[in-house]
Amino acid sequence: MYLYKNPKYYEIAFSFRNISNEVDFFEKAIKKFSKVKVRKIFELASGNSPYLEEWHKRGYKYYGLDLNREMLNFVEARAKEKEIKTRLFRANMNKFSLGKTKVDLIYVLLGSLYVKSNDDFFNHLDSVAKVLKSGGLYVLDGVVWFNILSDNKQRWTISKQGIKIKTTFRAKVVDPTTQIFREDVILDILDHEEKKQLRSNDIRKFFFPQEFLALIKCHNKFKFLGWFDNFDINKPATPKGRQIVVLRKK
Ligand SMILES: C[S@@+](CC[C@H](N)C(=O)[O-])C[C@H]1O[C@@H](n2cnc3c(N)ncnc32)[C@H](O)[C@@H]1O
Repeated sequence: MYLYKNPKYYEIAFSFRNISNEVDFFEKAIKKFSKVKVRKIFELASGNSPYLEEWHKRGYKYYGLDLNREMLNFVEARAKEKEIKTRLFRANMNKFSLGKTKVDLIYVLLGSLYVKSNDDFFNHLDSVAKVLKSGGLYVLDGVVWFNILSDNKQRWTISKQGIKIKTTFRAKVVDPTTQIFREDVILDILDHEEKKQLRSNDIRKFFFPQEFLALIKCHNKFKFLGWFDNFDINKPATPKGRQIVVLRKK
């Protein structure tokens, strides 16, 4: 069974995050770098929209975009239940538009940049630039690789609501020339008495730090402002942390 068509299990498996702390980082980045007043926040590859309730609590309006109908339905139902006004879009993050609507900040989480080449990346940046106000931030979590050419394998287990999920994550370099890697995620689930397994296998391009900077310069619609470790605005990125890049639209 495909992981992203099962938002309930995805949400439990990826609930290791400290949402309030992560959103604090965004507010600090806005204060430090944004040149626009921020009210409309837009998440790309939004999945289960993990920050939805936190943004709402802090007075922001949340927009999300994802390819998967199941993820969008899941978020729509939650927003309705919690009486949160939101706008959700089903589209590819490499070619999208919101008509005349512009947002004040855009972000991706957990390395969810689904591009296979630099051309895809430029198309993606063109779409982001069309929708983001000038002076607004684009924040990318886990997109730039600081652990040069090493395969990344992680395992963790989370139990909630009578459901136990063992997650195995592996990012394996498939072709060093095109810088393509395969991300395999396997969820081994024990839902009360029932055993299930969910998987996803996505092929994507990875970006080295200096390559990423050169591409941003060459694309020319964004300014690089910094990279940070583990949602700490005072800590520059290191190979060991979760690295977050902050760009601003020119
Ligand atoms: C790892 S999940 C991230 C979900 C959420 N942002 C989070 O932080 O937990 C990746 C999401 O990207 C979506 N996705 C994959 N390829 C996409 C694409 N080309 N355009 C938009 N969404 C995509 C999947 O449906 C999935 O919901």
